[in-house]
Amino acid sequence: MASVGIDAMEIWTGKLVLDLPNTFAPVKDEAPAKYTKGLGLTGSSLPDVYEDIVTMGANACKRLIERKGLTLNDIGRIDVATESSFDRSKPVSTYIAGCLEQVFEGDLSHANKGERKFACLSGTQAVDDACNWIRAKRHRGRGALVVVTDTALYERDDPGEATQGAGAVALYITETPSIVALSTEQGIGSKDETDFLKPNQQFPSVDGRRSIGVYLDRVREALHDYESVAGRIHKADVSYLPFHTPFPGMVRKAALMTYRHLIAGTDEEETLLGLVGEPPSPDAFDDADAYKKARYDYQKAIRNTEPFQTWYTATVAPTLSLSRRTGNWYTGSVHVARASALLEAARHDNDLVGKRMLVGSYGSGAQAEVHAETVCTGWRAEIEALTIEDQLDARYDLSFEAYEQIHSAHTYGTETSIDPFTTPKNEFAFDGWGDMGERTYAYVSA
Ligand code: CAA
Repeated sequence: MASVGIDAMEIWTGKLVLDLPNTFAPVKDEAPAKYTKGLGLTGSSLPDVYEDIVTMGANACKRLIERKGLTLNDIGRIDVATESSFDRSKPVSTYIAGCLEQVFEGDLSHANKGERKFACLSGTQAVDDACNWIRAKRHRGRGALVVVTDTALYERDDPGEATQGAGAVALYITETPSIVALSTEQGIGSKDETDFLKPNQQFPSVDGRRSIGVYLDRVREALHDYESVAGRIHKADVSYLPFHTPFPGMVRKAALMTYRHLIAGTDEEETLLGLVGEPPSPDAFDDADAYKKARYDYQKAIRNTEPFQTWYTATVAPTLSLSRRTGNWYTGSVHVARASALLEAARHDNDLVGKRMLVGSYGSGAQAEVHAETVCTGWRAEIEALTIEDQLDARYDLSFEAYEQIHSAHTYGTETSIDPFTTPKNEFAFDGWGDMGERTYAYVSA
């Protein structure tokens, strides 16, 4: 089989936005630049009262099925990846399938459904599973829907509150992909860690500072593991670097590490060392904090060099244009990064066919995965069909008081009595509870 990969995608954002520099920062008594420059975020997408992981996922799928002219018989598999599941037994994919069966002819009774869990990594794992299902020829000519959907909310006043988000991405995986073909080679970096977890609780327990180090360590290991099967990767091999983006500042750190790796042993490394000198050695420091500070300053110095800036502007910055506006979508964030890079490429009329991206996913707990994707001939038409930028522009801009209300409306165990801020139109909406405590959904027409 020549190639297996992503044939189509659709993105659905939560309908509300919390403006971080202008609404959140003043209440927190913080500088707006902490958000815009430090974390790299301008806003967080949040779900309205009638939105959740099912509605956002089903809405993305519905649009994808309609735009591609598919029938339900074309779908042999639906896998949902999420960290926000509300049901410990019945997978979210069955709720989404139920929604789709409300509006399309036929049914999904022969589609294999499941739910994947490994924090933010699981969407990439679900794509991998779908590709392998096709490579194993179990698909009977059908494609697989992978739906990554999350309401990434943190407890009020947790430092993570600055990096929230809500949205879904639907990906259609086939043996004739229009957007990207995935490499069979992959690298894994995996270790039992407790950086971010939700042991039977809605909001995560997070060690934010530690989670940044764990992300970098696992991605570094995954890069080395990838090269052990795919061979050495060089800077020129990589057009874009879509990485898991909890906030763009995190990718800036991961990009710096990756850049140093990609140029290791080349003339560019010599040039860089000529500009910033050799990295600090731990032996030269008496205490760990002084060494840490020297490393931080050294990395900052590299960030300010012309070679790094040029590479970053071309290869990494384009992957962040959507996530700056959305915040963290957990399982969706690496898929938003890919879409963002391709949207920017289309905007700048870049001919990408045959070019490669190096995709890095990360899930707390912790595991990273790295693989390559080759851009296919139909990428541009697919990407230009996305409406995500219009959706982001149309979000309802929350006041801080309204943000507090919507956060508690989505907190389990609280009584929701607020009215929605927006009106559902031609989309699935949460509409109540069934006899067995299940959430129920209806399609709301114009
Ligand atoms: N101007 C410019 N920059 C500023 C600034 C200003 N006025 N004020 C602060 N900054 C910079 C800081 O220097 C820092 O950047 P560096 O790390 O490059 O130095 C950045 O803004 C953030 O500032 P703080 O570190 O002071 O922010 P914080 O203490 O409030 O917390 C956080 C940041 C730890 C990331 C927190 O938001 C958090 O816990 N987030 C959730 C965990 C997370 O996302 N971890 C990422 C890895 S784990 C993962 O990827 C899985 C996942 O999806 C959750």
